[in-house]
Amino acid sequence: MYYGVAYYPEQKTPDDLKKDIQLLIDSGINTVRMGEFAWCRFEPQEGEYHFEWLDPVVEELGKAGIYTVICTPTACPPAWMCEKYPEILYVDNRGVTRPFGGRRHYCYTNERYRELSRIIAEKIGEHYGKNPYVLGFQIDNEPAQEATGRCHCPACQQAFRKWIESRYHTVEEWNQRTGSVFWSQELSSFSQVYTPVTTIEPYGIDAVPVHFENPSIRLEFERFSSQQQIDYQEIQTCALKKYTDKPVTTNGTGLATNSIDYFNSFKTLDRYAFDFYPGMRHSKIDPFAYGFARGVKKDTPFWILEFMSGGGHGLRGHGRVQTPPNALKQAVVQAMAHGAEMMLHFQFRTFPYGAEQLNYAIVDIDGVPRRRYREMQETAAVLKQLASYEKAVMRNEVGIVFDYDAYWALAIKPVNENFRYFAFCDQFYKMLNEMGHTSDVISLDADWSDYKMIVVPSLFVMQESYRQKMKEYVKQGGTLVATFLTSVKNVDNTGYIESLPAGLTDLFGVTVQEVEPVDGRSRSHIKLSLASGEETCEDVYWSELLEGSAQMVGTYLEDYKAGCGVIAKNVYGKGTAWYLGTMPEENTASKLLAEIAQEAGLTPMKIQVPSGCEVVRRELDGKKLYYVFNFNAEPVQAVWQGTLRDVLSEVSYENGAQVAQDGFLILQED
Ligand code: GAL
Ligand code: ZN
Repeated sequence: MYYGVAYYPEQKTPDDLKKDIQLLIDSGINTVRMGEFAWCRFEPQEGEYHFEWLDPVVEELGKAGIYTVICTPTACPPAWMCEKYPEILYVDNRGVTRPFGGRRHYCYTNERYRELSRIIAEKIGEHYGKNPYVLGFQIDNEPAQEATGRCHCPACQQAFRKWIESRYHTVEEWNQRTGSVFWSQELSSFSQVYTPVTTIEPYGIDAVPVHFENPSIRLEFERFSSQQQIDYQEIQTCALKKYTDKPVTTNGTGLATNSIDYFNSFKTLDRYAFDFYPGMRHSKIDPFAYGFARGVKKDTPFWILEFMSGGGHGLRGHGRVQTPPNALKQAVVQAMAHGAEMMLHFQFRTFPYGAEQLNYAIVDIDGVPRRRYREMQETAAVLKQLASYEKAVMRNEVGIVFDYDAYWALAIKPVNENFRYFAFCDQFYKMLNEMGHTSDVISLDADWSDYKMIVVPSLFVMQESYRQKMKEYVKQGGTLVATFLTSVKNVDNTGYIESLPAGLTDLFGVTVQEVEPVDGRSRSHIKLSLASGEETCEDVYWSELLEGSAQMVGTYLEDYKAGCGVIAKNVYGKGTAWYLGTMPEENTASKLLAEIAQEAGLTPMKIQVPSGCEVVRRELDGKKLYYVFNFNAEPVQAVWQGTLRDVLSEVSYENGAQVAQDGFLILQED
């Protein structure tokens, strides 16, 4: 595994650089990431390129066995550029130009900026493309992060008009498909298209608080902006690939931003890569992001280009708490268990300067190695010991479908304050994970045939072609779990003029009769008839009353809803389709899901652990390999039947073993 840190040699005095390099070498890591914000050093004046500040560092580290991921610096257009070409600056939805002085103050559509970015990427590719100490390339840094993924500058306005025209061809078609007559919004020319100012962008501020712009144009703007950023990135990808065969990627923001459709944006990149800053103070690291990482580029290992390094000051001023001893090591091994090929901590040594002055790092500002450095050293050593286990294969039996149209549409028109699409997908991941089933988070377009069970949470917007895909999957014997708010709207983000779930009433054997949000005014009890017995609980998020030929496994118990179906199971072809018209409370939902999983034939987990733990199953040379993690503040007992061998200590355990606090065991069948 590639393991290491982000490092910023451009900020160092020669003396510090020397000390840091020695520490890096002594730590046992094998990878650093450099260059990402250093445009003013790479190109201090237009057309003048410098690499002499970076070359010796790459070389010295390389000779000591530490490889470099070189970044393009385009997250930080330098002062000379912003002064000379002010049109490259980002304009937010309020019309406010993001000035020079922070980072990410550029427009990804602007032709001038695209050209300047292409040139610097080419220069970097040309210079480092064949360097034996360079491992690969990172484009930019966290595209769209910090509310920079929805630009409204004149170039974006212009491009958005073209986008709408290319997708709808004539204004008549636009008017008809999007129902523009509503509130007198019919257009007579595409020149009348404007970028919508109501935003769902994380950290975005609505330009006009109560404006109710048309959901159709809003969804198009999400898709358009995502694609513009992908096109921008592609320019750099091509520029680099002219000179190198090494992997080229960018660092997504895990699942945090979602201003870019990562399924699309990583198609032409060689690795899915992302940054991850989970809470780590005796708390379970939610592996949903790893499930997603496996789903974006199936069968290709993923990279984590930034990961927690510990606590201290934070970027926004408020601090981050420290990681307890061993938690970093545990987290790195957890990422490896989930399929990571690279993990780099952010970052090596605390900055005295700039917006991130005093921030947490592996080594403190004084350059004295302390606990976190020693732990990184130990981790590097453990990874070396585990090298032969990296090729273990992971075969997951559940796919959870995540879809950007659904995500955006549910944010544009939320159905209930306490319902978040994202968190809902994660909830399924977590419940299954607690039962010992690791899922992949996949797209609608993925190959579903490898999975015994597919979960499709609230696919609010659904293209008609996927109706057939769902039906085929079940017909062939798959188990499909869908929920309320499935197939409500079409690709234009307007309501299907059909009974719901549109086009799928035969698959699920139900038709939705009535819907409402679940909150204090409407909350109601439901009864589930499970194989393990009857369960009664409250409904959560949303309520749909169902009628049809399906078996009603869940029904309402109270008021006028008493007796109405809400959880339905329908045999279809060789498989089974489940429709959850509400979400049962967590405990009951887990029991329901466990039953569905069992019926779907998922392989039960051999090892049982208490809550706050995780077991990841892989296979090496035909033998099962189990990674057991305990994120709790005290030791726990893992239990199983038979003998398993701890691959690190070579000790064999019979029927169970203790897992230390913030610790892990890697166990193999003999
Ligand atoms: C990341 C970013 C890094 C650094 C870090 C601080 O989102 O990519 O450059 O700012 O946050 O936590
Ligand atoms: Zn723009």
